[in-house]
Amino acid sequence: MSFAIAIDGPAASGKGTIARAISVHFGFHHLDTGLLYRATGARGGDPVQAAQSLTAEDLARSDLRSAQAGQAASRVAAIPEVRAALLDFQRRFAAQEPGAVLDGRDIGTVICPDAEVKLYVTASDQVRAHRRAAELGADPAQMLRELQERDRRDSERATAPLRPADDAVVLDTSELAIDQAVTRAIGIVDQVWQRR
Ligand code: DC
Repeated sequence: MSFAIAIDGPAASGKGTIARAISVHFGFHHLDTGLLYRATGARGGDPVQAAQSLTAEDLARSDLRSAQAGQAASRVAAIPEVRAALLDFQRRFAAQEPGAVLDGRDIGTVICPDAEVKLYVTASDQVRAHRRAAELGADPAQMLRELQERDRRDSERATAPLRPADDAVVLDTSELAIDQAVTRAIGIVDQVWQRR
């Protein structure tokens, strides 16, 4: 039996770091699903065609982490046909043995509604903007506008909007150092893992 862990939340909430740490701790596979949308947006041309034909090379591009790539990802992610094209790959990834951690926006709500553990990782807008600005060497005020625009688009879209699943555990990392957030997240997963 595989074990799926869904980790959702807004940009720069810490979900990526937490997802990676959980995957290392439990020896599970990890997929950063934002990369699929970033690679789709970065291809240019018809986004639906891009999503349908993504290659490992597309996912390895070095420019996918930029703020521009994030905005382009958020725009193509609002197109239902793009999301549909990426669905099977994510579901197959989630079914791998012994377990898989996927982080994104709609993992607990759409991709893996039956995930064994669902976490919704969040933090205040200011904290997230400062973290992302430090990471990218950017201006915090500009980062704040950028994140808020992206979160608004991701939350207000009709298909698979960003929101916590009804059965998700909410982890607010505003007041936590990253290692504290990781410890807490691993503890939440471990309780379920021990009882399986
Ligand atoms: O997690 P990220 O910042 O790399 O994601 C980039 C964009 O991709 C995000 O603004 C919205 C979109 N996305 C999505 O719609 N669904 C996901 N599961 C992951 C990302």
